Amino acid sequence: MVFRLRSLKKFQQFLLHTELNLLLKTGMIDIYQPIPWFGVQTAKRCEGTLKRWEAINNELGFTEGSVLDIGCDLGFFTFQMVRRGFFCIGIETSALPHHICNLIKEIGEFENAVFLKANVDGQFCKKLPTVDVTIFLSVFHHIVRQFGIETATHLVQELMGKTKKVLFFETGQSNETNTSWAKYLPEMGPNPQLWIENYFISLGALRVNYLGDYETHLSPIKRSLFAVYMG
Ligand SMILES: C[S@@+](CC[C@H](N)C(=O)[O-])C[C@H]1O[C@@H](n2cnc3c(N)ncnc32)[C@H](O)[C@@H]1O
Repeated sequence: MVFRLRSLKKFQQFLLHTELNLLLKTGMIDIYQPIPWFGVQTAKRCEGTLKRWEAINNELGFTEGSVLDIGCDLGFFTFQMVRRGFFCIGIETSALPHHICNLIKEIGEFENAVFLKANVDGQFCKKLPTVDVTIFLSVFHHIVRQFGIETATHLVQELMGKTKKVLFFETGQSNETNTSWAKYLPEMGPNPQLWIENYFISLGALRVNYLGDYETHLSPIKRSLFAVYMG
């Protein structure tokens, strides 16, 4: 009986590995984030993601607690936070990335990661639990395009209210003019870094730490990354 259960588990792992390899390594889908635990480094935003994590990891002054990762894509930041000792909820609107996150969770035995498939809007935010850390990277501009700046700002305020310690933030910027979404953003002027800092201060943030600029695959324009402190 024990032997049969072990064989079954091995067979299940084999099937999960095969499915993950098929999805990630055959070029079937466009990959945004790297998955270092499975040797996937060919992502569109590989370097920029590894460097963003380095900056976030250096900024974090504590190693335990709970995390929301909004628009988690393939779960790169969710899994990194779990590896650092946090319990992390990754939320993703697209079905395939959400499915891949769950495959990685099973294969890598990331027990402290859970994934929700949901389109985060102001109403959905109200239902979220309060956490120590929120990761909100490169999703704000999608939300502005989808709902407009006023609704997006209410959503940011909801997320700030749900975050006890620090919210990591990055967005597509209005100076990324070769994109389809830049025209929906408020004009951030010649210094988007300053615009974003002032935006969070106007929403009641206590302190906004600038963590550097990071490349994207879209243009030579880099995006500013911030740690927003609530209190
Ligand atoms: C540009 S990618 C950024 C991924 C990741 N946060 C990062 O910075 O590496 C945006 C991701 O957010 C997801 N997304 C966009 N709008 C969303 C929403 N309203 N709720 C949940 N996920 C969303 C997209 O499907 C995509 O996976």
